[in-house]
Amino acid sequence: MTAYIIDWLNLVLRWVHLITGIAWIGASFYFVWLDNSLEEPSDDNKQKGFGGQLSSIHAGGFYEVAKYKLAPPFMPAHLHWFKWEAYSTWISGFLLLSLMFYVGAESYLIDPTKLALSPWAAVAISLGTLGGGWIVYDLLCKSPLAKQPVALAVLLLIFVAAVAWGLNQIFSARAAYLHVGALIGTCMAANVFFVIMPGQRALVSAVEQGQAPDPKYAIASKIRSVHNNYLTLPVLFLMISNHYPMTYGHAQSWAVLMAILLIGAWTRHFFNLKHKGVIKPGILVSAALATIALAWTIAPPLATPAAGSAGGVNVTTEQAFAIVQQRCSTCHSATPSDDVFKVAPSGVVLDSVPQMEQWAPRILARSVTSHDMPFMNKTAMTDAERAQLGSWINQR
Ligand code: HEC
Repeated sequence: MTAYIIDWLNLVLRWVHLITGIAWIGASFYFVWLDNSLEEPSDDNKQKGFGGQLSSIHAGGFYEVAKYKLAPPFMPAHLHWFKWEAYSTWISGFLLLSLMFYVGAESYLIDPTKLALSPWAAVAISLGTLGGGWIVYDLLCKSPLAKQPVALAVLLLIFVAAVAWGLNQIFSARAAYLHVGALIGTCMAANVFFVIMPGQRALVSAVEQGQAPDPKYAIASKIRSVHNNYLTLPVLFLMISNHYPMTYGHAQSWAVLMAILLIGAWTRHFFNLKHKGVIKPGILVSAALATIALAWTIAPPLATPAAGSAGGVNVTTEQAFAIVQQRCSTCHSATPSDDVFKVAPSGVVLDSVPQMEQWAPRILARSVTSHDMPFMNKTAMTDAERAQLGSWINQR
């Protein structure tokens, strides 16, 4: 029953996290587009103090938007803020992370083949990574280095790579990836909470008091906004990364993560330029080529039928089924006997030969070409058994 309730909590939190995340990143995309697409204001608008304007059409309505060069002469009665998109994404994400990796620490977070952590120790490391990571990032952004954005970006990339590598030494591979995503998401949300919002509040109170706003807020916010903008695509990948064991399960998973992060940021760069009217298709083409090159580089060795056929011996369906029964059916069954997974994960039931045949391509992908299944090798499957399953699938 608890497993059932946890599954529902998981569903609801994931759903909410997706909705809020779309609202946040959607608003971010919109305002980056808006800011970069502004045109020279009309004379009329110039006189009113506008620095840019644009017209658009959406869902049967025409919109006129104008941006003040500095600030409005007086505070409008209703000023719309965009902050709860960020906060609610972080809150729902943190609750989902807690449910998956803290409540489920023994199944998802701790990998005893790497480090036999107690659940509390694992949770402490996780929280320490999120809090400590933000402190390091924040200090770096406040350091004199912030005046050299490229040097800062390079240093931050090295920091992310180190975190990705370090976490993979301690946690399960999928938890390591998710934690890098959670750390990036935490920094993005904390940027809004601790830097961008205070800056906006200072701006508003300056306008209310008829004073010129202190430029220090604008300067501090600028670099954080740029980081948030370039991190949107990478953080989205990290959110879905757990479905792709070829990435997090790779021996050099940290390098794969960094490659995808760079490809994502590079792709975002294309759109940032495009909004300004600079169209460089070469960026998208090179991002696509880099993705293909990455896929090619990390491809598992082609399973030749001979290689896995245990010395040329044919593997019979009965033998293959016996392996699946022993190593997979504790979880992948209509009546699982596993202590944690009480419902066949992802609906994959392997109780009969036809079911095994139905799932053969995924069995190959998850337990032969990658060693991602059995989950954390809980049922201690041997390499010889993987090879035998591979031969059986390739012989069919
Ligand atoms: C300890 C429990 C456990 C065992 C044992 C286990 N799995 Fe899984 N399996 C999971 C979980 C949890 C998921 C869902 C998460 C995921 O997809 O990574 C899953 C998902 C899957 C999926 C569906 C996702 C997809 O890629 O299509 C396949 C296929 C799969 N497992 C194959 C296997 C095979 C083959 C074995 C035995 C060699 C096995 N599993 C053993 C827990 C287990």
